[in-house]
Amino acid sequence: MRYTEMVMITASEKETIELGEKFGKLLEKGTTVALNGDLASGKTTFTKGIGKALNVTKVINSPTFTILKIYNGDLPLYHIDAYRLENNDYDLGLNEYEEEGITVIEWPQYYKNYLPKEFIEVNFRHINDNEREINFISHGDKYKKLVEEISQE
Ligand SMILES: Nc1ncnc2c1ncn2[C@@H]1O[C@H](COP(=O)(O)OP(=O)(O)OP(=O)(O)O)[C@@H](O)[C@H]1O
Ligand SMILES: [Mg+2]
Repeated sequence: MRYTEMVMITASEKETIELGEKFGKLLEKGTTVALNGDLASGKTTFTKGIGKALNVTKVINSPTFTILKIYNGDLPLYHIDAYRLENNDYDLGLNEYEEEGITVIEWPQYYKNYLPKEFIEVNFRHINDNEREINFISHGDKYKKLVEEISQE
């Protein structure tokens, strides 16, 4: 499959939120974003930025046993933390409503049977205490341009 890739480095939690906000502003209704990365690599921090872009006022976090949280913003934000689904092949029935908003999935490897054909993958890598490498990949042509836009100020 053809895809476009972009790599960025953030130097603080604040910068990751800002990058998430910038990215969030580029998203259109119906987009799914899959966030990959180890524990504490910055997935939820980045999601907070997406929430800011959508004018979500509630605090975005990841409570241990909640798999899906829906936040109200300019568009609904569906935040899935699939960590606890592991390989149970559990269908959250998300595609019934993901068209209406923005879907963000942490630990998408545990939910891969339900990912849409086209989506944006974001990979987080821990460099040191304060730095994270964040790379964006468009799966399918639909999000190619968006991924190219991320690095432009
Ligand atoms: N550049 C950075 N970007 C994001 N977070 C950072 C950065 N530097 C340090 N941090 C810290 O790393 C942690 C990231 O936590 P976060 O909850 O976003 O991780 P996560 O990938 O969602 O983890 P989990 O898989 O447990 O849900 C926070 O404590 C944050 O303060
Ligand atoms: Mg998290």
